[in-house]
Amino acid sequence: MQERLLEIQGLHLNYKVYEGYLKVLNGVEFNIDKGEKVGLIGESGCGKTTTMRSIMRTLPSNAVITAGKILFKGKDILTASMDEVQSLRRNNISMIFQDPTAALNPVFKIEEIFSDIIRFSVRTSSKKLTKDEIKLKAVEALKAAALPDPERILQNYPIQLSGGMRQRVCIAMALISSNDLLIADEPGTNLDVTIEDQILRLLGNLVNERGTSIILISHALGAVKGLVDRVYVMYAGNMVEVAKTDDLFSDPLHPYTSNLFKTVPKLTGGGIPEAIKGRIPDYFDPPKGCRFCPRCDHAMPICEKETPTFKDMGDKHEVACFLYS
Ligand SMILES: Nc1ncnc2c1ncn2[C@@H]1O[C@H](COP(=O)(O)OP(=O)(O)O)[C@@H](O)[C@H]1O
Ligand code: SF4
Ligand SMILES: [Mg+2]
Repeated sequence: MQERLLEIQGLHLNYKVYEGYLKVLNGVEFNIDKGEKVGLIGESGCGKTTTMRSIMRTLPSNAVITAGKILFKGKDILTASMDEVQSLRRNNISMIFQDPTAALNPVFKIEEIFSDIIRFSVRTSSKKLTKDEIKLKAVEALKAAALPDPERILQNYPIQLSGGMRQRVCIAMALISSNDLLIADEPGTNLDVTIEDQILRLLGNLVNERGTSIILISHALGAVKGLVDRVYVMYAGNMVEVAKTDDLFSDPLHPYTSNLFKTVPKLTGGGIPEAIKGRIPDYFDPPKGCRFCPRCDHAMPICEKETPTFKDMGDKHEVACFLYS
């Protein structure tokens, strides 16, 4: 029996902007088990980053969660105290971003950044590490992230490293504190494709070695295919399909998933293009029923009125579409 690590239930989130509310998350359902590797795909603007930031409780100040729960080991993160959230970030869950530059404070040397994280992450275990022990831990983490000459890197400022090295430094930082779950939000997307590929492979190896769960958001469908056990497909604020990786790629059920795959001729490294027919809806006034309706070739009258929910198609394959109910 698999142990449930994280479960998102019915998450609704709006962004307050000058003109009103953007109704972005529309009842997100998601789960991941201990040690599981899960992919998350969907066009840009579908709410992937917003969902992950909800887990980390690092949403921008104009975000308003109107309904839902995020259970981590059974306890709701959304109602946890700030102390509990900080402890989660130090000991259980960490996130790496597309832009590694923003995650590294430019005025500190890598060694100083690492010392802070290491000191914080062991504080809860009541040991006090010496300066040498801290350095040793930093060197080990950098080595694990396949960075050559870690001693030298510790003496550098972020700006002195290449983009690929900075991303590896962020991975090394995440490894220190993420004992349970690593969230990787389009890691390496800004970098050269070969470097992106190396970064994704490195992440795959590291989580395999450590048994950490990972949520991997990536446009590189080929890489997702090779790395994760299950894949969620997100469209305009809803999870619309989830299945074991091979099943999703060989037998996509949701019209949006099929469209995504059709536009990627070969799943070897090809990314999600910007141009599938139509575009994601305006979040000020999204479609009332299925949010994919205006773009769907199979739309029926019910699709305009009601929002489809996940239907279990067996063998961990679920789809939210009226074609299957
Ligand atoms: N702070 C914000 N204020 C207003 N709208 C935002 C904010 N952050 C994100 N959004 C909007 O929310 C939607 C989902 O964004 P995001 O979660 O970043 O999607 P993805 O990661 O799938 O590309 C987008 O339309 C984006 O413009
Ligand atoms: S619910 Fe209807 S509109 Fe939505 S994807 Fe399915 S068939 Fe298309
Ligand atoms: Mg994003």
